[in-house]
Amino acid sequence: MSAISFSKVSRVYPSDGREFVALDSIDLEVADKEFVALVGPSGCGKTTLLRMAAGLDFPTSGSVKVGGQEVMGPGPERAVVFQQFALLPWKTVRQNIAFGLNCMGVSAAKQAPVVERYISLMGLTGHENAYPHQLSGGMQQRVAIARSYSIDPAVLLMDEPFGALDAQTRIVMQEELVRLSRVNPRTVLFITHSVEEAVYLADRVVVMSRHPGRIKEIIDVTKLRSEEQWADLPIEAVMELPSFTHLRAEISRMLKHVKANSPSPI
Ligand SMILES: Nc1ncnc2c1ncn2[C@@H]1O[C@H](COP(=O)(O)OP(=O)(O)OP(=O)(O)O)[C@@H](O)[C@H]1O
Ligand SMILES: [Mg+2]
Repeated sequence: MSAISFSKVSRVYPSDGREFVALDSIDLEVADKEFVALVGPSGCGKTTLLRMAAGLDFPTSGSVKVGGQEVMGPGPERAVVFQQFALLPWKTVRQNIAFGLNCMGVSAAKQAPVVERYISLMGLTGHENAYPHQLSGGMQQRVAIARSYSIDPAVLLMDEPFGALDAQTRIVMQEELVRLSRVNPRTVLFITHSVEEAVYLADRVVVMSRHPGRIKEIIDVTKLRSEEQWADLPIEAVMELPSFTHLRAEISRMLKHVKANSPSPI
């Protein structure tokens, strides 16, 4: 059984008295513990697809299932990390990270070591008692990521989670995500505009096209990753491998083709 299953999913929005097809008959099965990255031009429906898995939006037709169950709304087994930092401004870093655990009814004694672990992992030590407005954008996103990891969800839904981070922090986070996926594998649907990030992180990269949003290609990276043992190499070394640069170029070409053949929303 797939962890996430999109079956003939279409999403139509009303637009100026007409119908706008944001997603057109999407079929995608994400296996349990699989890491799938979505790439595609702006407006191709990546966020819409992720929001449907999160239970924040619903298909006009077709079906979205998580763990074999039709998605009816949000649930604690699915954590979402959005592009914008969704922190509670009146709570500190520590309280924000503990928020999900609180909602799940985890006792303060059990929360503490988990929260401390993620404060340390995300490089937030010394900022535990700061409020979101006292943090940089990158730090706020690290708090949001720590909060979603800490509840140990079966499914992680991430919409450009590293988009706002500086290059150096982004690399640290990418390596951290790979390390976490190794010790604690989970199902991830991950949206990014960085082909490099998609190839480095994902088992499969889904290339989408727009107007209407469709799946163009699905590229399997697992064989390459295991053959060349990327997980044992530093990220910089992986990104310099000829096989990596070749695949990155190939997907970039696909995206260029997709963009050239679909009208821009602007
Ligand atoms: N609530 C809505 N009402 C009307 N149209 C919408 C709504 N949500 C999304 N759309 C449209 O659906 C299309 C897909 O939007 P979506 O946000 O999923 O794209 P995206 O691939 O995530 O883009 P980006 O890379 O810019 O984040 C867009 O053309 C958008 O304008
Ligand atoms: Mg989006």
